[in-house]
Amino acid sequence: MTQDEAKGLVARRAAELVADGMVVGLGTGTTATLFIRELAARKLDIRCVASSDASHQLAESLGMRVATLKELPELDVYVDGADEVCAGAGGGLDLIKGGGGALLREKIVASAAREFIVVADSTKAVEVLGKFPLPVEVIKMALPLVEPKLAAQGLHPKLRAAKSGDGPYVTDEGNYILDCACGRIEEPEVTAAEIRSIVGVVEHGLFLGMATLALVSGEDGVKELRAQDLQAHAMR
Ligand code: 5RP
Repeated sequence: MTQDEAKGLVARRAAELVADGMVVGLGTGTTATLFIRELAARKLDIRCVASSDASHQLAESLGMRVATLKELPELDVYVDGADEVCAGAGGGLDLIKGGGGALLREKIVASAAREFIVVADSTKAVEVLGKFPLPVEVIKMALPLVEPKLAAQGLHPKLRAAKSGDGPYVTDEGNYILDCACGRIEEPEVTAAEIRSIVGVVEHGLFLGMATLALVSGEDGVKELRAQDLQAHAMR
């Protein structure tokens, strides 16, 4: 099974969990895009809030009803991909997100949802977070201050370049992203607090204990995993 096929499997399973009348948060990235397409195909009577301009536009182009958090401040479920998923120390699921650059809005929309389903192929399931560079969203003018502070914390920040190669990547909220090659993040809560303490940091890609269920797909099909299952399933 290819990685794309695995992503398609979890996207379909997550779409099957949505029912008429729900308010659904739409994630961002290739897996979330597949989910949005599967969900649109079901033609349910639902309303959505998107975590990026790209997902908003895609959903509208597929005929879905998309609103803002002002109109829909409470969501039944948020569905999104992740760059890494592991069992958190607090008994929940911990994630690294933001590879697609939408971590800030993703965390905001996820925080408004009663359920957060993370959809991932099995390459994303890890024992310890940190192999994937941790994205940190930074106010543009603060970059010269934040970058050396992250470096002093040993996080090896690198300014993300635009896909076009034309200057830095700019998020939907107009900020920069520093991708931090942390290595193993043994104490994510501590790392998160240290990053948060730097003035000019808007958000980081550690989503600790926010996701309630992980749908993870591989050769054996789709597994529905909570934290304790992920410990056994982790690959690195
Ligand atoms: C975007 C994200 C994505 O969910 C994450 O990068 C996974 O992406 P993909 O589904 O394309 O592998 O956090 O900001």
